[in-house]
Amino acid sequence: MNVLVVGGAGYIGSHAVRLLIAAGHHVWVYDNLSRGHRQAVPAGLLIKGELSDRSKVVQTLRENQIDAVMHFAAFALVNESVTDPALYYRNNVIAALDLLEAMREADVKKIVFSSTTATYGQPDVVPIPEETPQCPINPYGFTKLVVEQALADYAAAYGFAYAALRYFNAAGAHPDGTIGEDHDPESHLIPIVLQVALGQRDKITIFGNDYNTKDGTCVRDYIHIDDLGDAHLRALEKLTPGTGICVNLGTGQGTSVREIVEACREVTGHPIPEIIGPRRAGDPDELIADARRAKEVLGWSPRYTDVQSIVETAWRWHQSHPDGYT
Ligand code: UFG
Repeated sequence: MNVLVVGGAGYIGSHAVRLLIAAGHHVWVYDNLSRGHRQAVPAGLLIKGELSDRSKVVQTLRENQIDAVMHFAAFALVNESVTDPALYYRNNVIAALDLLEAMREADVKKIVFSSTTATYGQPDVVPIPEETPQCPINPYGFTKLVVEQALADYAAAYGFAYAALRYFNAAGAHPDGTIGEDHDPESHLIPIVLQVALGQRDKITIFGNDYNTKDGTCVRDYIHIDDLGDAHLRALEKLTPGTGICVNLGTGQGTSVREIVEACREVTGHPIPEIIGPRRAGDPDELIADARRAKEVLGWSPRYTDVQSIVETAWRWHQSHPDGYT
């Protein structure tokens, strides 16, 4: 297929681009580089532009005879969405609607959309099945839920075919170490812990050890970035006009913050000093996917099933790129 990867210069999008190319698809990346990295995109594939530039998006879709779009271009920091919701509604909702309208104009109706566990809010049942009511507790989760709903409505009214893939905690890097996670500022657990191992930070602060979990620290479901990408490729093949696929992408295994720090110690051989700090606002105790639907619907199962192997790939990236893409 001819696939336009919107946000393909970002962490998750850039890994999907590699997998799409390896699978024989023709790929173009549309990205404004506001948070993505030019160096993460293979040479010659980047089209720099805004989603608000309707004529440019329509032209890109038509000229390249795009069959399907993967939409990764969103901001994804919960705290930032609370302090600057306008940024999130503009970038995650308005820009996504701009994209959908451009697709309608160009008659491109297949889309795979990056959704999130944050659409569930603070669920009562863990592992979390897709039937769980989607009640976000922060603007980030709301922005993603709005787009999921828009996709359902576009499918019903205009015949769009969509997949909304609800990621749990994306982690790791391409196994060859050439692309990986590079946020500025970095707020995610694994990169921060590995920055301690690199000597760029002196310790990791664990945000709270009084949660209702196995060791008191928050439990998350860490899913390797290439397993996410693999699910996108499978979703692309399953897109059906007028309907949507909504699935969780996680391993179904919960790992605590302490277990992540320990896995990083084992992988890096560094002692990684830690201190316990206060809780971070808005962190639920436990988020673990019930990932059975992805297996049934997409035939997908994660290949990275232990956090140590995920951390190993991240470590390869951080060691070879201690300052990220710069
Ligand atoms: N944590 C620490 N210390 C740190 C950084 C993180 O203890 O320095 C803890 C957090 O409190 C949390 C866990 O590590 O319990 C994971 O935190 P991350 O920031 O790595 O990931 P989140 O679970 O907060 O965020 C993920 C995605 C977001 C998405 C969110 C939805 O990375 O993009 O899930 O719930 F919005």
